[in-house]
Amino acid sequence: MCGIVGYTGQADVGGILVSGLRRLEYRGYDSAGVALYADGDSELTVVKTSGKIVDLEASMQAELPESKPFSSMGIGHTRWATHGAPTQINAHPHSSDNKEIAVVHNGIIENYADLKAHLIADGCTFNSETDSEVIAHLVQQCYQGDLRAAVTAAVKKLTGTYGIAVISTKHPGTIVAARSGSPIVVGLQDDETIVASDVSAIVSRTKQVIFLNDGDIVTATGGDVEITSMSSTTVTRESTLIDWDVDEIEKGGYDHFMLKEIHEQPAAIATGLRGRLDETEGTVRLGGLRMTPMDMARVPRMILAACGTSYYAGMVGKYYFEDFAGIPADIQQAAEFRYRNPIIEPNACMVAISQSGETADTLAAVREGLMKGATVLGICNVVGSTIARETGRGVYLHAGPEIGVASTKAFSCQVTVLAEMAIMFGRTRRLSASVGREMVRELARLPDIAAAVLEREAEIKVIAEKYAAAEDAFFIGRGYMFPAALEGALKLKEISYMHAEGYHAAELKHGPIALLDEDVPVIVPVPDLPDKEKTIGNMQECRARKSPVIAIATEGDKEIDAYCDDVIRVPRCQEFIAPIPVVIAEQLFAYYVAKARGCEIDQPRNLAKSVTVE
Ligand code: M6R
Repeated sequence: MCGIVGYTGQADVGGILVSGLRRLEYRGYDSAGVALYADGDSELTVVKTSGKIVDLEASMQAELPESKPFSSMGIGHTRWATHGAPTQINAHPHSSDNKEIAVVHNGIIENYADLKAHLIADGCTFNSETDSEVIAHLVQQCYQGDLRAAVTAAVKKLTGTYGIAVISTKHPGTIVAARSGSPIVVGLQDDETIVASDVSAIVSRTKQVIFLNDGDIVTATGGDVEITSMSSTTVTRESTLIDWDVDEIEKGGYDHFMLKEIHEQPAAIATGLRGRLDETEGTVRLGGLRMTPMDMARVPRMILAACGTSYYAGMVGKYYFEDFAGIPADIQQAAEFRYRNPIIEPNACMVAISQSGETADTLAAVREGLMKGATVLGICNVVGSTIARETGRGVYLHAGPEIGVASTKAFSCQVTVLAEMAIMFGRTRRLSASVGREMVRELARLPDIAAAVLEREAEIKVIAEKYAAAEDAFFIGRGYMFPAALEGALKLKEISYMHAEGYHAAELKHGPIALLDEDVPVIVPVPDLPDKEKTIGNMQECRARKSPVIAIATEGDKEIDAYCDDVIRVPRCQEFIAPIPVVIAEQLFAYYVAKARGCEIDQPRNLAKSVTVE
């Protein structure tokens, strides 16, 4: 989604904004722009372009006079279109009529139509179709010599979500930024400040950051930062030291971030297990849950809420809580949860799963859960993200930054954490120490299991290339392989644009089987586990309709060869672990299909890494 970078300091503002925006490209965007200030100018200089950051850079080179000393502050933006097409005019920054004020905005202003009508009646001229432009005009209207006061007054009129950064010719060296529902992070250095929507844009200059809370307004001047509330009182926010390096957001020799992140899975899973497994007691220690065994034993129901890949991880989690702990569990599409007035009984526990920790629908579900008195736990990857902070308890994935829009390592780590959580809950209930020990030992093998799938990469590539020209595909599975099938289909469609659908293997004959023929491959995760024979029956149904069948099967399982056209092998493991190696194989399959089709793998069309709008 949209990205914000703002810089105030003495270094090359334009260069810092462009490199910051480049770090935000992974979020997905369709246009970009910057606003700069040259000493003495009465108007800000704004350069915008539809397209990519390279296009913006070219426009900056063409449009910015070399002789002009741009200094002290600037703001930049990558836009993911919501209101209005991805054109140059709709790109941010947006300016006030007098061109003294420029604004970049992430989020959606829900009352923009009303505000726009009033502003037009007051004589403002609008240039774009965006909701965001109202903010620039409002700040100008509220301005009486104090930029912070003007921004504070302006945002009080907004309904919806915003993360904004504002500059004015009247305040050289100052950026005012504010947030409500859309993140703003402030990077601190001795004599400069970077304001951004995402740590990635900051970490090359400083690792010391402050995450703003909703309602915070920050005024940054060089190295000085003051945070105030909506009532203009000063507030104190702790700073955080980012614990990862800039090389973690580089490709490190891989063609794509997605491939790098697929390969990082053994290490990421190992990090998520380190220090948590207690083999002696057959349990797991997750201090961040802040729940006693008694608290856990009292939970009558688990509610898991998430979107996209995190939702499919949550589906696996549902099975875990039911299988290991005997707790009834539901997985909820987060957007639906919020709008259907869910019933949350006393002591119910909710788990919000979100890689980014910023997904608007998941955040809304968290707030609904908290409002209704549930104990809400977060499973997030991004440290300091809104969901992590608002839940205040849960587990971080510590998978390192995930840059590819297609989620890969986050899935494996989410499933690992959910297994850990369910074992921990299970041990307060019906899970015996001996079974717990077995499960803990199996979890400890997971990094090696993941690594073994990666060793099959070359074979998976050959199979992927064989089917890369197909226009439609199905993924089917049963039990733990059902969510794995759904995730396989999501991965394939989002990066290769091949139409792919995931179904329960038994569901195919209730309708979708009508679509099968020799041009429609069916991918079937079918490890050597209890449901295998039934799934083989479904594979035969597909082959009877001439569909090529690609099995994802257990190493050494020769029986399966008779029922499929191609086989991808994954290591033998316990049933609960199986979704992880299977999904890693599906990730590689999707990656190589997309590569063969010449797709833009890391930034698929229309998609955003962090979906901060409803
Ligand atoms: O950051 P989140 O985990 O909350 O994101 C949820 C989905 O937007 C995300 O998983 C999306 O489906 C990915 N593109 C899947 O690869």
